[in-house]
Amino acid sequence: MPKFNVLEIRKDFPILSTTTNGKPLIYLDSAATSQKPLSMINAVSDFYKRYNANIHRGIYEISVKATEAYQESKETVSKFINASSYREIVYCKNTTDAINTVALSWGEGNISEGDTILLSETEHHSNIVPWQLLAKRKKAKIEYIKMGDDFKLNMEDYKAKLENNPKLVAFTHISNVLGTINNAKEMTKMAHGKGALVLLDAAQSVPHLPVDVIDIDCDFMAFSGHKMLGPAGIGVLYGKDSILEEMPPVIGGGDMIRSVTFEGSNWNELPWKFEAGTPNTEGAIGLKAGIEYLNSCGMGNIHKHEEYLTKHALESLEEAGATIYGISGKNELSDRTGVISFKLKGAHPHDISTIMSSEGIAIRAGHHCAMPLINKVLQEPALARISFYLYNTVDETELAINALEKVKKILGIKHGKSQ
Ligand SMILES: Cc1ncc(COP(=O)(O)O)c(C=O)c1O
Repeated sequence: MPKFNVLEIRKDFPILSTTTNGKPLIYLDSAATSQKPLSMINAVSDFYKRYNANIHRGIYEISVKATEAYQESKETVSKFINASSYREIVYCKNTTDAINTVALSWGEGNISEGDTILLSETEHHSNIVPWQLLAKRKKAKIEYIKMGDDFKLNMEDYKAKLENNPKLVAFTHISNVLGTINNAKEMTKMAHGKGALVLLDAAQSVPHLPVDVIDIDCDFMAFSGHKMLGPAGIGVLYGKDSILEEMPPVIGGGDMIRSVTFEGSNWNELPWKFEAGTPNTEGAIGLKAGIEYLNSCGMGNIHKHEEYLTKHALESLEEAGATIYGISGKNELSDRTGVISFKLKGAHPHDISTIMSSEGIAIRAGHHCAMPLINKVLQEPALARISFYLYNTVDETELAINALEKVKKILGIKHGKSQ
């Protein structure tokens, strides 16, 4: 077990000492959204209580303070992912909004009839639908990198599809269904070798392990504040300065302009060109506080802690008779994170989740916003999913697996440990 004081960490998350259905809450759905530390909750509340004002406008003290806090948030995010400067950090609502911004701005200007956009079979809907909309508008094509039997992307298929010279390769860094960590650096290098730009969906990676955009060299990256201890409603589009500079704004209005006349307007500098109207200042402040909390724990430690929980959970789940949809071989766990999708023969995932909820355990069940992957590739109607974060413990994992035994008992299932 890595040196990581999870019991101390848990004290900072008020919700983790509450009950649900009369049982202590065991929250195993952090891939959907994370829980929040008190420092983040206080940072947002402090803004409202002490310096709530619009930014970039007022010259009175609290407006200046709010503007500084917004700017500091950008600097914090920039450092966290090792961007070159805050100019490369565009605030959006979430990952979905960030990807749509690229599709609507870069995509409109750079994708033409007959062009190819290369995605993977393992994408979340938010990295499929914006490209489908763009492809329809532009009469462009979409291709998908195949997933192999090992739950990893098939690199031979990727290589072959790069031969079709896609204009853009957009793929997930970590699958929100399989937990597989894709080799973003290598895949980016391969795409660049063929002249394609790369968008990395980092919704499941930036919250869970160290991510360095300069090292990966992706052109765009998208992630959500609510999955990394921050509030909902704030997300990040990272883009290389030189590329963002050439892109037109998607939404027009206040703050994104340098000057406006009755005849026309010109744009503010980066990143404000992409942030029309009053921004989510409290979201930015909360995101900064969330990142500071993550930094205080160390992203490397968080990743190791989740690896430890994952190893334990995979073994126990298999022992309980569950089928894992993801890497589960003991030697390959370095290629996956703590997102574990599974099936229990004879139990619908919704029944599993409902019965576990009666035990105070929150797990996800359904298509996980990845219907093509679950329905077509994995040939399942739905899956159950456990996902970990820095505040989860081995005890919680044990309780969850024990609750699976209750599921089996109620549903009359006789395979696995209870046989
Ligand atoms: C891999 C991945 N991409 C994109 C998203 C979409 O994130 P959001 O709903 O915050 O836009 C998610 C959310 O679960 C995700 O897991």
